[in-house]
Amino acid sequence: MYPVETRQLTKIYASGLLKRFEVRALEEVSINVSPGEIFGLLGPNGAGKTTFVRILLGITHPTSGTAAVLGEPATNYRIKKKIGFLPENHRYPMHLTGEGVLRYFGRLSGMGGSHLKKRIDELLHIVNMNQWRKMKIRKYSKGMLQRIGLAQALINDPELIFLDEPTDGVDPVGRKEIRDILKHLRDEGKTIFLNSHLLSEVEVISDRVAILKNGRVIKSGTVDEFTTTADEYEILYDGIIDDDLLALIQAIDGSVRLENGILHVAAGNKESINSVLDALRSHGIFVKSMSQRKSTLEDSFINLINEEPKQ
Ligand SMILES: Nc1ncnc2c1ncn2[C@@H]1O[C@H](COP(=O)(O)OP(=O)(O)OP(=O)(O)O)[C@@H](O)[C@H]1O
Ligand SMILES: [Mg+2]
Repeated sequence: MYPVETRQLTKIYASGLLKRFEVRALEEVSINVSPGEIFGLLGPNGAGKTTFVRILLGITHPTSGTAAVLGEPATNYRIKKKIGFLPENHRYPMHLTGEGVLRYFGRLSGMGGSHLKKRIDELLHIVNMNQWRKMKIRKYSKGMLQRIGLAQALINDPELIFLDEPTDGVDPVGRKEIRDILKHLRDEGKTIFLNSHLLSEVEVISDRVAILKNGRVIKSGTVDEFTTTADEYEILYDGIIDDDLLALIQAIDGSVRLENGILHVAAGNKESINSVLDALRSHGIFVKSMSQRKSTLEDSFINLINEEPKQ
């Protein structure tokens, strides 16, 4: 059983005055998410990511196709107990304190008493908000609101968690903390579905990703499949490589290039790479690092988005 399984999910919104215009938000989207994985749905603004999640939560209904969550149709309200959700641009009642928000949502999930109190304490520690628990959320920063939002999504200890742009407005330290929380949840066996346009982040935590554009999946796979390794090493160094030295190392290995202060050498011939390094060192150049170049998910995403002809 896939925790999330859609088949040819299509959503057409009728919009505009008299609902005369069609917005094709999703076109035949088929996605399977495996148990215990972090799945990242990526795509530019308006690609259909939020619509997809809203259908899985039973908030919006598809025009055609099917959506199943934890083995049940997405409209089955009983599965809601096992699901957590952090909406995009969420709005909680501003007069509540941080812990008040969690109490409110805990009660909505049918929790109460000491069990709820214990869970709130636990979550406030996990999201690092304990010291602000008594402050009204009106005074919270965007990052603080996101942390409380994440705690809210976890209040009922869900099996499956949907997060729509979870690190929106969160500073780099906070983002790292959120990533660590998500990894920890995955290690506990939870399944996490993430919508994001922050590619560098999705890259570090997702097991698999799909790229949505104009409502269609244009590519899906593991992050490794998206990030190709170039057959080339990059050498970072301290010192000055003048024309003579460059000519000398190019005579050792013809593939050597010097670009923007970084040496590039083809990965094929290990012996000549070693000789290049020796020559550099013997001419007083300090070799700081040598690494194989990898394209980032961002490079791959931008290429895909630009390549694909407009629908
Ligand atoms: N209730 C609605 N009525 C009409 N059109 C809608 C509605 N909700 C979304 N849309 C349209 O559907 C398309 C997909 O929107 P959606 O919010 O799912 O995109 P998204 O990928 O989440 O974008 P973002 O990255 O900006 O959050 C957009 O063209 C949007 O204008
Ligand atoms: Mg969205």
